[in-house]
Amino acid sequence: MPKILVLHGPSLNLLGQREKDIYGTMTLPEINRQLEELAKAHGVETEFFQSNHEGALIDAIHQASGQVDAIVINPGAFTHTSIALRDAIAAVAIPTVEVHLSNIYQREDFRQKSVIAPVAIGQISGFGVNSYILGLKAALSLVGLQS
Ligand code: DQA
Repeated sequence: MPKILVLHGPSLNLLGQREKDIYGTMTLPEINRQLEELAKAHGVETEFFQSNHEGALIDAIHQASGQVDAIVINPGAFTHTSIALRDAIAAVAIPTVEVHLSNIYQREDFRQKSVIAPVAIGQISGFGVNSYILGLKAALSLVGLQS
């Protein structure tokens, strides 16, 4: 069964209570449940991991090598800073979709650059929880399961 790894970066564990005007009211477990159901309907297994630690996310990406068919990642603030995360994605060469709840290009200058985008297949930004849904659909199409 194909498998998609969904990674969430720092402070995304606080979704539902964190800056609700920007990130909405849905919690991370609620988002994960929606993604799991959508993937299951396509016969795809999902694995979820959230960490506030750069190294833990990097370890998860390394461990995914040869184990998963695609990655959906919201790198949180590491989007804008982490060359290490970018290098990990490039190293494992697993097709990766970058997602953001908010439109990072509408926000502060420091959010308007993603160091992850050049190693992702593509990026979805600004659709709230739907960014994750669209990101998962993109990943499903990358594994050949949705047109
Ligand atoms: C975010 C955008 C980032 O700039 C921010 O640091 C986050 C969330 C988003 O989903 O909109 O933590 O990745």
